[in-house]
Amino acid sequence: MGKILVTGGCGYIGSHTIIDLIENGFSTICIDNNSRSTTVLLSGIQEITGVKVKNYKVDLCNFDETYAVFQENTDIEGIIHFAAYKAVGESVGQPLMYFENNLFSLINILKCAVEFKIPHFIFSSSCTVYGSPDTIPVTETSKTKSAESPYGATKQMGEEIVKNITNAGDLKSILLRYFNPVGAHPSSLIGELPLGKPQNLVPAITQTAIGKIKELTVHGNDYPTRDGSCIRDYIHVCDIAHAHTLALQYLIENKSQQKCEVFNLGTGDGVSVLEAIRAFEKVSGKKFNYKIGPRRSGDVMAIYADNVLAKEKLSWHHKYSLDEMMDTAWKWELKIHKDATLHSNSNFQLN
Ligand code: UD1
Repeated sequence: MGKILVTGGCGYIGSHTIIDLIENGFSTICIDNNSRSTTVLLSGIQEITGVKVKNYKVDLCNFDETYAVFQENTDIEGIIHFAAYKAVGESVGQPLMYFENNLFSLINILKCAVEFKIPHFIFSSSCTVYGSPDTIPVTETSKTKSAESPYGATKQMGEEIVKNITNAGDLKSILLRYFNPVGAHPSSLIGELPLGKPQNLVPAITQTAIGKIKELTVHGNDYPTRDGSCIRDYIHVCDIAHAHTLALQYLIENKSQQKCEVFNLGTGDGVSVLEAIRAFEKVSGKKFNYKIGPRRSGDVMAIYADNVLAKEKLSWHHKYSLDEMMDTAWKWELKIHKDATLHSNSNFQLN
C-alpha cells in the first residue's frame, strides 16, 4: 500500500486523522508550513502510535516546493487535504488573504495530484456550505446558500474546484462536510490548540473554566429555538478522523459509484449553546461564569446533519457522546494548563 499525504497534518483534525490512519495500517507523510500550528502535535502522534511522521514544512501556495514533495515521494496513493485558514471572523476582515491561501494551495495540490496520477483525494469541507438552511436536518442534496463569510466561500469554491477536476480526469474524490468538530484524543496527548482568544464554543468553555478567559458570552438567547440559543451538531474529532480512513478505504476498494461523492459528518443531534454548557458543567464538575450577549453576526440559528449517507455507504457510526466530547476537551485543557510547551503553543498569536 502506498503512502497517504496529509496536508495540514499538524493541525487539529489533521493530527487526529493521522493517528486513525496509522492505527488502520496506512503510512503517512505530512505537509504543513506551521503558519498556524507547530510540530508539537506530531510529537503527541509519536507518543500515541510509536510512529514518527515526517513533516515537509512547505507552503502549498509555492508550487515548486509542493511539486518537489511529490518528486521525492513517488508512492503517494491518496491525499487528504486539510490545510487552510479557518477563522470566520478573520476572513471577513481579510478576504483576499483567505481566497489566496485556501484556493491557491488547493489548486497546487490538485495540479500535483493530476500530474503524478494520484488516484484518491479527500477534501475538508464544512456545513458552512449550507448557509442558513430552510429545513433541518440538512442532507447532502440540501440547497447550498450564498456563503456567510469569505471562509465559507472558499469551502464552496473548493468543492466546485475538486468536483470539476475530478470529472475531467482519472482522480476520484470525496468531499467531507464537517459539522462542529470538538473534543480531543482520549489519551489527552493531542487536541485543539486555538490561536489567541478562541472563537469557537468548546475551547471558549474550557478556557473560561480554567480561568484563561474571565467570562464566556453566549451569543444570543432570543432565537426561536427551545431555549433561545443557537443549535449546532457537535461531533467528536476522533469520529471525524475515522470517517477519513473509511472514506479512503471506500475509494481504494472502488466502492464509489460517482467520481466525486459528498458526505455529511455530524451526529444528527442538535444541541443548543446552553445545553452544551450544562453538559460541560456536569462532566467537569465546574461551574463557570457566562453572560448572555447579543447575537453574533453571521451565525445561523440552527443546523444539524442528516448522516444516513455516511452510515450507509461508509459504514461510519459516531462513537462519542456529548458528555465524552466535553470530558475529553476538558482533560485536554487541564493537560495544556500543566504542560508549559503546550501552553505556549496554545497562546501563540497570528502573524
Ligand atoms: C462555524 C461554521 C463551521 C466552521 C467554524 C470554524 C457554520 C454553520 N459553521 O461554526 O463550518 O468550521 O465556524 O470556526 O457556519 N458561541 C457562543 N459563545 C462563544 C463562542 C460560540 O455563544 O464564545 C456560540 C455561537 O454563537 C454558535 C455556537 O456557539 O451558536 C457554535 O459556535 P462556533 O463554535 O464558533 O462554531 P460555528 O459558528 O457553528
